[in-house]
Amino acid sequence: MGAQKTLLQAFNQTTYQVAGHSKRDIRQLQRIFQEVDGDLAADVYGSGEVIDNFQNKMAKYLGKESAVFFPSGTMAQQIAMRIWCDAKGIRKVAYHPLCHLEIHEEDGLRKLHQIEPVLLADKDRVISLADVLGMNEEIACLLLELPQREIGGQLPPYEELEAISHYCREKGIRLHMDGARLLETLPYYQKTAAEVCALFDSVYISVYKGIGGIAGAILAGDAAFTKEAIVWKRRHGGDLISLYPYIIPADVCFEARKDKFAEYYEQAKELAGLYNQCHGISTRPTVPVSNMFHVHISLPKERLEPILLAVCEETGVGLSHYVREVDEATSYYEVSLGDRYATIPKEKLQNVFQVLDQKLREALQA
Ligand SMILES: Cc1ncc(COP(=O)(O)O)c(C=O)c1O
Repeated sequence: MGAQKTLLQAFNQTTYQVAGHSKRDIRQLQRIFQEVDGDLAADVYGSGEVIDNFQNKMAKYLGKESAVFFPSGTMAQQIAMRIWCDAKGIRKVAYHPLCHLEIHEEDGLRKLHQIEPVLLADKDRVISLADVLGMNEEIACLLLELPQREIGGQLPPYEELEAISHYCREKGIRLHMDGARLLETLPYYQKTAAEVCALFDSVYISVYKGIGGIAGAILAGDAAFTKEAIVWKRRHGGDLISLYPYIIPADVCFEARKDKFAEYYEQAKELAGLYNQCHGISTRPTVPVSNMFHVHISLPKERLEPILLAVCEETGVGLSHYVREVDEATSYYEVSLGDRYATIPKEKLQNVFQVLDQKLREALQA
């Protein structure tokens, strides 16, 4: 007897996939480099036209004096926290309990920099002004993640963001943005990147999430801040002899997608609406505020997986390649809208949700 097909295998065999831009495979890089002038000189240890031009372009876009390209956001943000802690002589920063630094970086801040995080807000909501006002600890920096990925990409109201920024400036607390998905928030806020960034002292954005590059990050701020960030990048081994294999795709993808986030946002609202009509499903947030949301289902992971697998096989449309357990009775997965959604014929989409709803209804009655 052959091994049973996994959800991932069934998903990979579908004709259409609902989320994301495209498969993260080598063809992505091949396609981009086919269009690139082979005479362009490689960057060398952080200098050269290819890195300077992209950094300057991103500094301008983000409305900051200066920007530095990093191999990863993990490296860039730990360095940002270190710079602000050194400047204030306080080894404490505050952030959300589910932010990337707290749950995905193996305690990098504590182990590499002896920085203690202060956790603000409950796990299931974003940081509010009241949380910041109620903080008893003295901190060097407050980090806000926009949107808050682990709770479905929620955002604080813009006025709240302005009030937090104002308070931090008054108190001499540096405000840093984890803007891994900053571009994804702009259609909801109806602001430019520079307008949102003006509320923050330093900003990180990812070049491989919504933008869709290969890997890498931009860290931006004033010139004194980025000068220090460049030294720390070298200390961390992030000053690779050449970063152009990441910078060129970042630039090409930024140009191709920077004006498409309003489209992804509208699609996310439409798709969340389709999910919310199904039995046993609710999205978080109910109405998305960016291109992403989480799909919560009243079934355990081991019962949902075969349903999603059957949906893939019956409809040729892949909704998700994985399911995560919330508890014994419920599960969830994340959806981020990208280029793929527009390629799916509308009747296919209607059909996939009819099939999903029918299967969920049967499962919930069983
Ligand atoms: C919100 C957030 N911050 C930071 C990071 C870290 O980025 P990188 O993978 O470039 O280290 C991620 C990556 O998933 C993220 O989602």
